[in-house]
Amino acid sequence: MPTYPDPDKVAAVEQDLRAYPPLVFAGEADRLRSSLGDVSQGRAFLLQGGDCAESFAEFHPDNIRDTFRVLLQMAVVLTFAAKRPVVKVGRLAGQFAKPRSADMEKKGDVELPSYRGDIINDINFTEDSRIPNPDRMMRAYTQAAASLNLLRAFAQGGYANLERVHGWTLDFVQNSPATDRYSIIADKIGEALDFMQACGVSAEQVPELNGTDFYTSHEALLLGFEEAMTRQDSISGDWYDTSAHMLWVGDRTRFDGSAHLEFLRGISNPVAMKVGPTTKLDDLLKFIDLLNPNNTPGRLTLIGRFGSEKVAEFLPGLVRTVAREGKAVVWSCDPMHGNTIKSSSGFKTRPFERILNEVKDFFAIHRAEGTYAGGIHCEMTGQNVTECTGGAQAITDEALADRYRTHCDPRLNASQSLDLAFLIAESLAEERQALAAE
Ligand code: PEP
Ligand code: CO
Repeated sequence: MPTYPDPDKVAAVEQDLRAYPPLVFAGEADRLRSSLGDVSQGRAFLLQGGDCAESFAEFHPDNIRDTFRVLLQMAVVLTFAAKRPVVKVGRLAGQFAKPRSADMEKKGDVELPSYRGDIINDINFTEDSRIPNPDRMMRAYTQAAASLNLLRAFAQGGYANLERVHGWTLDFVQNSPATDRYSIIADKIGEALDFMQACGVSAEQVPELNGTDFYTSHEALLLGFEEAMTRQDSISGDWYDTSAHMLWVGDRTRFDGSAHLEFLRGISNPVAMKVGPTTKLDDLLKFIDLLNPNNTPGRLTLIGRFGSEKVAEFLPGLVRTVAREGKAVVWSCDPMHGNTIKSSSGFKTRPFERILNEVKDFFAIHRAEGTYAGGIHCEMTGQNVTECTGGAQAITDEALADRYRTHCDPRLNASQSLDLAFLIAESLAEERQALAAE
């Protein structure tokens, strides 16, 4: 937790927040839990994605729209490939607080407190900027409210129309260096849509084709803020964190006795927990029971973030134990946080190949264990940034400097996000062919 210079001011801001409207409703969180229950039972797939850290500076309707659009495009490709509905959850409208491995950041001879996300302090490297300021919680709330309002309008107001989303994907495929490869799947989706249209199934008649459910999520890190947003549902009497539909506990705050686990335990939203190479089997089972004592399907998602070089070593044992103990969880793959490296040009980056390899191993491990690979969790943006190397555009180390905009970790850009969706789709199709041939 940040140390604020003026605790009375923090208390006053939190008191104000307690009187502000909830951002999401209990019924919506329940609906997401139920959809995630389908995922845990292999009937649906989870796509969770968005910024590593949302920022006040990048707040713009076009940015929200573009990230939302790419998530929709990825979802259509994955729906087709998995032959299952895709549950869409943004790292959006509230992903403002960042855990840091180091308390201090050093540049030359100057050492200052680390940047901890726009909800806490400012990214500028000056002493004043780095002082935690509680007024930022208010600004984060306001930005989250405005973002969510726009996302709700996009999701239900016609923007998410399936045919239109596929049209954008066709544009992407035509302009991609991998046109020939991606056209195979894109053309099949187009044919499926034409067939449906010919049968009279179109967006005019079927509301599901004209809109979509879209949910929000973020790491429940700044507990004062999350507590101020936590309300008792008047119908059920249960407590919900109304700052987002889904909340997760990160790799650094997941430990025995952690206040963050204790907080998540008390809310009724669907929750997630990052698991990685440092996760011990005993702890995992203990935390699963803590967070999901009734073994409710959809209540708990485990987000693995091992790194492409470690996933094959660590994931199988965890998956096997969770299955043996009969724990109902969604297994999702975060192929980002274990694959961060420093490029030769000095930027924090992630090679696309490593990201893809971790996802492929994740699917292969679940296939081998007879369990269900339920979802992916990505840091991505709809903007044409240059933060991760590789992908069909083949972004080089030298090109990272061109448009490196992230406030924290390197994100897949729009094109790399769709590359990932198409390559996962290819793997799923190959897997199905292999199964059919057996
Ligand atoms: C994150 O998701 O931004 C993050 C910090 O991940 P992790 O806790 O897995 O390192
Ligand atoms: Co991150």
